Amino acid sequence: MTGGDTGSGPDGGIDKLPPGPDGLPVLGNTHQYVKQPMGFFDELADYGDVVHCEFPRIDAVAVFHPEHIGEVLLGQGTYERWNFDELKELLGYEIAPRGLTFTRGEEWKQQRHFLQPMFGLNRLRGFSSAMVAATEQLIGEWDDGEEIVINEEFSELTLSILTNSLFDFDLGEHRQVITKAADELQTVADMSGLSAVEMLLPSWVPTHRNRRYTQAMDAFDNTVDTLIEERRANPGQYDDFLTMMLEKEDDHEYAMADAEIHDHLITFLIAGHETTAMALTFTWLLLATHPDERDRLTQEATTVLDGPPTAEDLADLTVTEHVAKEAMRLYPPAGMLFRESVEETTLGGYHIPEGTKILLPQFTVHEDDRWFDAPEQFRPERFTDARSDGRPDFAYFPFGGGPHQCIGMHFAMMELKHIVPMLARNVEFELLSAPQPEINMELTLQPSEDVRMRVHKQ
Ligand code: HEM
Repeated sequence: MTGGDTGSGPDGGIDKLPPGPDGLPVLGNTHQYVKQPMGFFDELADYGDVVHCEFPRIDAVAVFHPEHIGEVLLGQGTYERWNFDELKELLGYEIAPRGLTFTRGEEWKQQRHFLQPMFGLNRLRGFSSAMVAATEQLIGEWDDGEEIVINEEFSELTLSILTNSLFDFDLGEHRQVITKAADELQTVADMSGLSAVEMLLPSWVPTHRNRRYTQAMDAFDNTVDTLIEERRANPGQYDDFLTMMLEKEDDHEYAMADAEIHDHLITFLIAGHETTAMALTFTWLLLATHPDERDRLTQEATTVLDGPPTAEDLADLTVTEHVAKEAMRLYPPAGMLFRESVEETTLGGYHIPEGTKILLPQFTVHEDDRWFDAPEQFRPERFTDARSDGRPDFAYFPFGGGPHQCIGMHFAMMELKHIVPMLARNVEFELLSAPQPEINMELTLQPSEDVRMRVHKQ
């Protein structure tokens, strides 16, 4: 497909292809992308709301208008997630093919139907005490005046909360294996800074980073197998996610293969901790440079709460909610969503051939001044009901939307609404690193350098 081509369709339908920047032979727009991935999408948006771009072996269309984003996310049957085998071939790494983030069609539908009750609001309320305990423990471990790397601290915190609530694990020595795998996964997913030659290498070439990733994932696979074996050896004493899946092994309607249980564990351990850790990191990075918003947050945390939050308090923590939402507007942890057209279609008046890769860059859409005034500014009050009225659906979609909307969304919001006010009540952070670090587009959006803070206990 060549951007901007026009012609008459055989059935008189739309045959105009989306516009886009010129690319190089073979490389397409890779050289523009690797230089500055997020800036590249801002430049693409200048071509329109539906824009063509090209990478080695990928013909893609980036979508910037909320209406068309909605069409893609809600258009099951026309748009699907990327085919896993192809993804593996293109990106050169794989993770949890039978987990919820990669299955498609009927298999995905069955899985989602089965897993959804784990995230029901009533069940989530029971996790409040695990969220409070882990946050209290973290605050207790910090010394007054200590310098901390906040992204690492939050990553450990959200991993603990996940394993103590969804899974009744004591991570012990397994923690490092999971953290290492998550780190390597971020690195291997980061295309920025790669040379053109590296972008073109077939996935099986054992580059240094592919080798490190494979080793870390092998260790993670073994750890997950051990956790499953340990649970099988001690059945009956737990009421968690893993027990629920193991019990399903004998269910004839929905029997779960070992490989699937394994992949669900990997999926939840990865999808469920680094995303929330990044939301926390960016929230506190922004608060560190916006003292007025920090004061409003503290005020709420001290007036609404008379101790750690309970599930009943959460609805009253509106300032906290607006702060977290605004941080995820400016720094959406997932960064970008991926789909492909599984049949020929049209989008925004353009022809989309079957097999076109569709890119939905949250970070560009979230900063569109058609929907957000002064979009580069941190203004939590833009999420009050009055200010949100009239904003189109999918102008803001940090958790995606439609059938694949994040299954952990309420869990994540609940975590943010426990951790943020608890920190606001107990700690003052002094930012020691850059207030606006460069952002890398890895598996999640990540600051390119550690975010360092000094802790002042209140
Ligand atoms: C702030 C935190 C989080 C953010 C920003 C986030 C973001 C997202 C987004 C954007 C999607 C949709 C992907 C797509 O449509 O292709 C998604 C899906 C998913 N998320 Fe989250 N997530 C967060 C937390 C969590 C947590 C805590 C869990 C688990 C405990 C989780 C598990 C998943 C899973 C399994 C899917 C796939 C759902 C499906 O396809 O049916 N996420 N997440």
